[in-house]
Amino acid sequence: MKLLRSIEEMRAYRATVPKSSTIGFVPTMGGLHDGHAELMRQARIEQDVVVASIYVNSAQFAPHEDLARYPITPEFDKKLCSDLGVDALFMPTEADVYPETHKTYVRTIVGEPNRNTRSEGASRPTFFRGVATVLCKLLTVVHPNALYCGQKDAQQCAVMEALRLALWPRMTVRVVSTVREEDGLAMSSRNTYLSPAERAYANAIYAALRSVQMLFASGERQVQALRACVHHYFEHVRPPPDQVMFELLYVSVCHKIELLEISDVVPEPGEAPTLMCVAAKMGDSRLIDNIQLC
Ligand code: PAJ
Repeated sequence: MKLLRSIEEMRAYRATVPKSSTIGFVPTMGGLHDGHAELMRQARIEQDVVVASIYVNSAQFAPHEDLARYPITPEFDKKLCSDLGVDALFMPTEADVYPETHKTYVRTIVGEPNRNTRSEGASRPTFFRGVATVLCKLLTVVHPNALYCGQKDAQQCAVMEALRLALWPRMTVRVVSTVREEDGLAMSSRNTYLSPAERAYANAIYAALRSVQMLFASGERQVQALRACVHHYFEHVRPPPDQVMFELLYVSVCHKIELLEISDVVPEPGEAPTLMCVAAKMGDSRLIDNIQLC
């Protein structure tokens, strides 16, 4: 596996890839786990060349967020990528990616804070502009045929799809299903922050989403009832134990690509792809998860 430490090295590597070869790109912030690995496995199966990147993107963290303690495990990560058959691992430096110290941002309409009051865009107003900015920088250099991303971050996938449509219409955005721990908790680099009590309760988020899925399958289409089902789960079915500080930040029912909130009735399966997205605070950690309703 080639280790590329600068944009210049990445450009030089890119120039060696034959025009006839397809490139799959898996951007990450490191702290790798099996969710990331699954993206790389899929890319390995589907593409001739696999490029992954590890870059903790300061631009997508607000000043009060967890940039300083974000898990950094470079040796483990490099070995994992190499074992999974990644051809090139791009690990640029901050100075290389942001020589102009955050003076320019790329924004997509779908990620804007005012787009949907129950979304990552509203909950973390500078997050998606940071994601869109770094993706533009990385994609311009890697220029892949397919961009691999996880359903776990469904709203981020919508931002990627918006960028694709505007700037790289021939690229595919390949969304890979959420990889979960055995108890249902969506894998995340941030799960390492959880205390044992928080970790034991954390799978309640997916369990609540599963109960919504069952309600939906039984025919319920009223958004209010589906959202109430989540609140009911945390308040009555499985309330947090005393030692766990738990706060539901939002429960959104929205269009998968437009991210617009649906206020009344969920469309029938096949009419419009619809997600339920949830964000919660657990102690000092922020967890997100989602399911596709139809
Ligand atoms: P990061 O959180 O490291 O995630 C990198 C990719 O792995 C994203 O596409 C994310 O959706 C996917 N992923 C994470 N956990 C997953 C899981 N449990 N199952 C499936 N896929 C999972 O997302 C980012 O980094 C950054 O915002 C980035 C896109 C790299 C831009 O900085």
